[in-house]
Amino acid sequence: MENIKLSIDNVFNFVSHDTIYAYESEIKNHLDSIHDKTGQGSDFLGWLHLPSSIRDSHIEDIEKTAAKLQGKVDVMVVVGIGGSYLGSKAVSEALSNSFYAMAPNSDAPMLIFAGQNIGEDYHSELLDILDKKTYGIIVISKSGTTTEPAIAFRLLRNHLVDKVGAEKAKDLIIAITDESRGALRKLADDEGFKSYVIPDDVGGRYSVLTPVGLMPLAAGGFDIRAFIQGARDMEKLTDRNVPFSENPSALYAATRNALYREGKTTEILANYNPKLNFLAEWWKQLYGESEGKENKGIFPASVNFTADLHSMGQYIQEGERNLFEIVLSVKSTDRKLIIPEDKDNLDGLNFLAGKKIDFVNKMAELGTMLAHVDGGVPNIQIEIPKLNAYYLGQLMYFFEKACAISGYTLGINPFNQPGVEAYKKNMFALLEKPGFEEETKKIKSRLDKK
Ligand code: PA5
Repeated sequence: MENIKLSIDNVFNFVSHDTIYAYESEIKNHLDSIHDKTGQGSDFLGWLHLPSSIRDSHIEDIEKTAAKLQGKVDVMVVVGIGGSYLGSKAVSEALSNSFYAMAPNSDAPMLIFAGQNIGEDYHSELLDILDKKTYGIIVISKSGTTTEPAIAFRLLRNHLVDKVGAEKAKDLIIAITDESRGALRKLADDEGFKSYVIPDDVGGRYSVLTPVGLMPLAAGGFDIRAFIQGARDMEKLTDRNVPFSENPSALYAATRNALYREGKTTEILANYNPKLNFLAEWWKQLYGESEGKENKGIFPASVNFTADLHSMGQYIQEGERNLFEIVLSVKSTDRKLIIPEDKDNLDGLNFLAGKKIDFVNKMAELGTMLAHVDGGVPNIQIEIPKLNAYYLGQLMYFFEKACAISGYTLGINPFNQPGVEAYKKNMFALLEKPGFEEETKKIKSRLDKK
């Protein structure tokens, strides 16, 4: 069985092999801190051995809950934000038909996401759609108090109760939250919703292998066993005892830190398969929220190629030279489609007739890589043998492990997110939330002065 493959050959024009390998002993120490739980934020290392410690009975329980729902509803609305949303959204989008809304997975409810924005139109339109559908709700919040999903869940729960009655609604709601704390835990226990626990020691952005990711994916008909197996295999491949040169997470962490120290402060994740759009969103959250602190951190950005070669491609080729790229390259496609011959050949494309579409895509990828490297943009490549649940499990665990190592190399705590409180404090002050009276006064006088 092949594994995902990291290649750093196209960064050596910018940082030498020796510079990257000079990180070996430092990274060995960081790996030890992670495995021995002696580094910053060590209370949040529950994700490290999650793949190998998931019990079969736990998977069966999730699958059983999913099977019960599958017969009952057309749609599952998954309510959550940040780490309570992006993992399942990324995997479901990567594994679904590109026109999922018109071609949903057979036998499984369609997954729809809410609570990741405060859009009045978004939620109104969602309720209009749900008027005509049978549906259930998976509500996910570790804290149980996050404003966006709490608003969405209020709306959806009321709608569902109005539609099917309180008794039936209970059987159609699943809560995923803390074991004992928070409003959602209390509600789930009081109402008797089926519930699952987010372990205390797993932060949101590292939670895709907990029920946060697994329950929505199972409900949507995705193969969570293959997903977990991929992560399990990557757990072994990135273990502390694997030599630096063979540990992809260690090498990626070293490479990006070496580039950062050379002034490459923005990392762009590029894909050549639009199904990976949300994988990029998940990756941006993982790296942005983990590393952007203490006035440090690589800025994570993303592009969908070849579409964005016709927009952001210009900047990447010739703009500020503080960029490097990581390209997700899917080796083989699921389907085969050949470019047809045309008798008039007005578009001049007959030289491609008989070729697979993916052959053109791969040449675009190779040509772009060479152009960007020539233009001063170092290029890291991850080759994914096939876009399936198993390799997504490998990929996501690889990125999680690398993020922890990279964060320690940067000298920050990759497991907290103190900065996300600032907007909440202002929003609550502006909304005059009880308990925020002082902040409300201050913010109002600040705004009055303007
Ligand atoms: O990674 C994180 O910790 C955050 O993005 C959280 O997942 C996000 O803020 C949602 O939090 P909660 O699950 O408590 O509603």
